Amino acid sequence: MRTPEITIDTMVGQYIFSTLANNKNIKRVIEIGSGSGNGSTVCIANGLNVNLTKDTKFVCMEPVESHYNDLREAIENSGADWIEYHNNSSISFDKLSIKNYDDYRSHCLDNKEKYQSLKNLDNEQLVTELEGREVWYEEDCEHFKKCEKGVLESLDGNYDLCLIDGSEFSGYDEFKLIEDKVNMIFLDDIMEYKCRKIVDELHENDDWICMSAIPERNGFVAFSRTHYK
Ligand SMILES: C[S@@+](CC[C@H](N)C(=O)[O-])C[C@H]1O[C@@H](n2cnc3c(N)ncnc32)[C@H](O)[C@@H]1O
Repeated sequence: MRTPEITIDTMVGQYIFSTLANNKNIKRVIEIGSGSGNGSTVCIANGLNVNLTKDTKFVCMEPVESHYNDLREAIENSGADWIEYHNNSSISFDKLSIKNYDDYRSHCLDNKEKYQSLKNLDNEQLVTELEGREVWYEEDCEHFKKCEKGVLESLDGNYDLCLIDGSEFSGYDEFKLIEDKVNMIFLDDIMEYKCRKIVDELHENDDWICMSAIPERNGFVAFSRTHYK
């Protein structure tokens, strides 16, 4: 079982739960990076459950088989037939911008001050840290490469909200696939490569407004469209 990160005891978990529980117009939600289904998945499902209707739909995804098995079991046991779960990647390799690890390494070496986990490292530590991350990239690439089409490439229509909390390497590419299909975007790990560029872009875009920023762990933000689609 994967250790959950965004639980109901955290500020981010409380924020997610209460936003959904207090807004009956949020009915269709996507979660990228569900893990074992014991973290943000619970906060979203419990929030949606408060105003459940026939239109409620929650799409979860987790490519790591062992985590996915936990997720599936938890959802099956809950009896919530409005939760859809996928043992698949968010996107295929085709949609991934970073096609080789050296591009990520060079970007991090040139921009280490932007990222919480890198900014305080000296050069030797930075090189060691980035050597270690090559394994993450290779593992995540197995999932991107294995899938012909990611879950986000075959979505059925528009959604009210998407939480991006998947792979370190694909946050921005996931954002590009969903930005025109959702009214709210929640981002975790905003002080890391995963979501940093998305935050910078949304702050510059007058169609979006930042509703909340929570400095827990590697940072979380919630953005909403100024005019819902
Ligand atoms: C930071 S964790 C998510 C934590 C979870 N939201 C929580 O609150 O506990 C990131 C998750 O994304 C998953 N992941 C990795 N690559 C992915 C991909 N291509 N698509 C979707 N999820 C992915 C990982 O296996 C991992 O379970």
